[in-house]
Amino acid sequence: MHDPKYLSKEEIEKILTSPLSNEEITKCRENHLLVNSRQEVITGGTEPGSVYFKTIEGRQILDCTSQAWVFNLGHNNPDINYAISVQSKETTHTWSYFLTPVRVRLANKLAQIAPGQLKGGKISVNNSGGGLALECAIKVAMINNKKGDQFIVFRRGYHGSSLAMMGASQRLPMRFSGFGLEHWIKTFYPYCYRCPWNYTEGFEGKRDKSCNLECLEMVRQQIEMYPTSTPIGCIIEPMQGPGGQIPAPIEFLIGLKKICELNKIILIYDEAQTGFGRTGKMFATEWYASIYNKDISPDIMTLTKGAAAGIPIGITIASPKLRMLTEFEDHSTFSSPGLAMAACLVNIEILQKNRIPDNAAKQGNTISSFIKDLSEDIPQIGDVRGPGLFIGVEFIKDRESREPYNDLLEKLIHIGWKNGIFFGEQMQIMSTAGYFIQNILKIKPPLIINDDDAVRICELFEQSLKEALKSL
Ligand SMILES: Cc1ncc(COP(=O)(O)O)c(C=O)c1O
Repeated sequence: MHDPKYLSKEEIEKILTSPLSNEEITKCRENHLLVNSRQEVITGGTEPGSVYFKTIEGRQILDCTSQAWVFNLGHNNPDINYAISVQSKETTHTWSYFLTPVRVRLANKLAQIAPGQLKGGKISVNNSGGGLALECAIKVAMINNKKGDQFIVFRRGYHGSSLAMMGASQRLPMRFSGFGLEHWIKTFYPYCYRCPWNYTEGFEGKRDKSCNLECLEMVRQQIEMYPTSTPIGCIIEPMQGPGGQIPAPIEFLIGLKKICELNKIILIYDEAQTGFGRTGKMFATEWYASIYNKDISPDIMTLTKGAAAGIPIGITIASPKLRMLTEFEDHSTFSSPGLAMAACLVNIEILQKNRIPDNAAKQGNTISSFIKDLSEDIPQIGDVRGPGLFIGVEFIKDRESREPYNDLLEKLIHIGWKNGIFFGEQMQIMSTAGYFIQNILKIKPPLIINDDDAVRICELFEQSLKEALKSL
């Protein structure tokens, strides 16, 4: 690293790392934050690349959230930290219309690893995340399909909280709604465990054997039989994350792709959560290809979260056959983010060289199998969904009614924290009548967890669940 010029190293370190006083924390909490719902102060990983983080009181917590599914290589990964320190000596930012070495390298790399028909595709990067990456995808769809500006989106989907993407997402507990709601045509996601057509044997993201894909037929009718609203694109998470860890069955995705092709509709996959190894493959699109030998790749894919293993980034990959945006159409100040692009490049190399997605598949299988075995004795575990470390556990009051067991989820997360483990939860699904559903636990630790970590997660899950059940 170069020596600092305006301040001494000690001065800079003091600004950033001197111990916080209780007074500073209270002042900030009470006066200065727009959002502050939790009391804990987190100071970082317990060691470089760890799956545990520390609280200011010195507690060590096993992180099953990777901090919003971002730290796929663990907290403060040393390789990522080294990558950004190397890149910071080159450049951290330029106008987005200049090429820089790191931008050239990343675009070429992403085009090379993109799945199916996205291979060799066109890339846009931003420093703001998945919502903006999707807005870029929507713009690309609109210049390639000029018939309109409406999009098919799915219930329980989540695509960001910008005012545009809020409208495309499931209704959330907010006191305002998104802008431009007329752009979104919402239809049913293939949520086989709670099928609106009353097929009851859909588990683990797979269809009931007797299902006739009625939900797909609804999409077809929305597109083909209502000419007053002509969607030009379709945005889907091939495996819904925030809505409850729900993989779409392969038959739905094959059918959706066919309907889109037939009607010249641009298919957009939001792989914010499933990209970069979480499912056991680099992308969910590849997971389906490897299990079912089917190419279901979309026209455009968006990525964020673990893409740069802790540094903010959003990525849009469009098929080579699509026309690209002009400079102004794709402008944002921070769309050539040097540090994020360096981190993303190094992350890809680490994932590939160390076969990290294979580890996610292996450890995920250990945890999912353990919970499935446990479900034989605990009827409140209704469905356990993977794949890889993209795990969802759905809690119900009983197997007959499958009534969502919100209280159990809340208790389990609370008790888990006390026991030293931090689990994630599905976003709240709001009803207009004022009640909500939130009954799905998420287990999505860093992808680098080892065998001991996986066993520890199983033990703490079982212990915390049993304590939660006892307390209710
Ligand atoms: C599936 C999915 N899409 C899009 C987004 C939005 O990403 P961001 O918050 O970076 O805008 C998220 C964020 O949670 C997400 O989970």
